Amino acid sequence: MLKIPKDKLPRHLAIIMDGNGRWAKRRGLPRSEGHRVGMEKVREMGRLCLDFGIKVLTVYAFSCQNWKRPKEEVDFLMSTFERYLDEEADDLNERGIQLRVIGRKEGLSPELRRRIKAAMELTRRNRKLIFNLALNYGGQEEIVDAVRTIAEKVKRGELSPDQINVDLLSQHLYTADLPYPDLLIRTGGEYRLSNFLLYQIAYTELWITPTFWPDFGKEQLIQALEEYARRERRFGGLGPSVETGRS
Ligand code: FPP
Repeated sequence: MLKIPKDKLPRHLAIIMDGNGRWAKRRGLPRSEGHRVGMEKVREMGRLCLDFGIKVLTVYAFSCQNWKRPKEEVDFLMSTFERYLDEEADDLNERGIQLRVIGRKEGLSPELRRRIKAAMELTRRNRKLIFNLALNYGGQEEIVDAVRTIAEKVKRGELSPDQINVDLLSQHLYTADLPYPDLLIRTGGEYRLSNFLLYQIAYTELWITPTFWPDFGKEQLIQALEEYARRERRFGGLGPSVETGRS
């Protein structure tokens, strides 16, 4: 059971799902087996976020840089995404989950794009949970795409350069209408951001666990949420304990 007051829960949870390969290697299994179990964990996380009342979940499934992996692994991951969309779209829809894919969709195969479009279309009216799947995603690339759109608007005379500010840039990101992540979980124990949501995580709380993604479950999610609930977020200000003189 989750004993965290609603106002202490993250509205937006982001996850870097790392460690599938190492999980498999430790068991003498092919890396693909780690990704297969990883996919089951993605299903589980969606359901848990829904149960807990988290409004937005964003998971990092494939980065713009992951194309550098061996072709066999890339092909396996792409077919896993296709299978996931096929098998999961109806279930997401029945649960009231809206699926979105963020990233450079034009770099994905026509077949995967077709399935993404169908799943997004099917679930687009759902509001219980917005589930962003980051595919062919890069944080730097997202900022470049936003800047390019803004530059085109300036060129057409729809915007003047002095109207460009933090909010305007934010409104041109893939996540334009969503709150920034409150909590970022990274599994697999590495202390880096790996080009994920770079603009949006300026004040996001970080929680890193050595647990590999295929071993990550409900208990660990609750542990992360409980720690998040205890954190004092200051957003560059002083925060209530300093302002009131309390320690
Ligand atoms: C990182 O582990 C994981 C990935 C690059 C792929 C993420 C994919 C999944 C969790 C499975 C499918 C997901 C969906 C949404 C259907 P790694 O391979 O870099 O692990 P390592 O650091 O141990 O090598």
